[in-house]
Amino acid sequence: MAETDLGKTIDRALADLREAFLPRFRAAATEQALRDENAKILGKKGELTAILKQLGQAAPASRKAIGEKVNSLKQEVETGFESCLSDLKRKAREAELSAPAFDLTLPGRMPIPRGHEHPVSIVREDVVAIFRQLGFAVFDGPEIEHEENNFTHLGFPPDHPATDMQDSFWTTSGKLLRTHTSNIQIRALSTIEPPMAFIAPGTVYRRDDDATHSPMFHQIEAFLVDRSVTFAHLKGILAEFAERLYGPGTPVRLRPSYFPFVEPGAEVDIGCVFCKGASGVRVGCNLCKHTGWIEILGCGMIHPVVFENCFKDRGIDPEKWSGFALGMGLERIAMLRYGIPNIKLLFENDPRFLAQF
Ligand code: PHE
Repeated sequence: MAETDLGKTIDRALADLREAFLPRFRAAATEQALRDENAKILGKKGELTAILKQLGQAAPASRKAIGEKVNSLKQEVETGFESCLSDLKRKAREAELSAPAFDLTLPGRMPIPRGHEHPVSIVREDVVAIFRQLGFAVFDGPEIEHEENNFTHLGFPPDHPATDMQDSFWTTSGKLLRTHTSNIQIRALSTIEPPMAFIAPGTVYRRDDDATHSPMFHQIEAFLVDRSVTFAHLKGILAEFAERLYGPGTPVRLRPSYFPFVEPGAEVDIGCVFCKGASGVRVGCNLCKHTGWIEILGCGMIHPVVFENCFKDRGIDPEKWSGFALGMGLERIAMLRYGIPNIKLLFENDPRFLAQF
């Protein structure tokens, strides 16, 4: 083709495209259609790109002029595309705004999966319910506690290992994260007139971390103060509690033990809930370390020193009152009840684990 003819052909093609592109853009009803149309013109294999490719064959003298024409059309197409695009977006937004309002109260199409109660919560509610049935009321207290309520008034000597930085979490202001719920004994005895019977569920903290210990865990304390309370009352409550929590006939055994705030003190075992070893049905299992017994709580008769500390400034005669206290770890109770091998499972909150309860 002669070069002048080529120039004319290109001119013609450019003129055709200049007339056609806007109506084509305007005809596009969706953003995607508009983008497709734009690609047909400006894309790698687009019409304007094809024209540009012919430029190489044009006479060197006319290349510059043709090139400028191609470029200016390219800009017109780009501007046209942008303005059509914003038109489309505006229309879409207007349509959205004038459409009937979205009804948030409509029921969803997918069923909403149901949550599950955490095993520690289940056990806590069960234990609280049992003690409420037995006449105990709930008493609450803070997790950040004074040393007096957590240790001193309970009869811990100042050099007791539990009071050490290695064993407890201390704040810079000399308070600590309570290491047990026994602080509630002190709080109740220092403010309430005896007789009283309370349970106190709560979070406690210790520097401890392995398969059966977590730095934060849950306890429930129970204590009862009245005239002439004896160890027999404590034993009766323990037997009743074990039967209500683990089923009728659950064997209970007390072993002498030491806690500064009780005298005498004991640890309580129940017959292993897994192998029933204590009732002689089988010989034992790994969980009870082949003893047939599993420890579930600590308890004892409230130490006279505790009554002294809490009653002396209140005109209450410590001699006239006696009582018992017991405390248990809820994670341990939950692990025993559900056969959970590692305490970490109770803190990871993996839905696949929790859905089993
Ligand atoms: N506070 C004790 C502990 O955390 C448990 C306990 C409570 C023992 C009440 C005796 C009486 O280990």
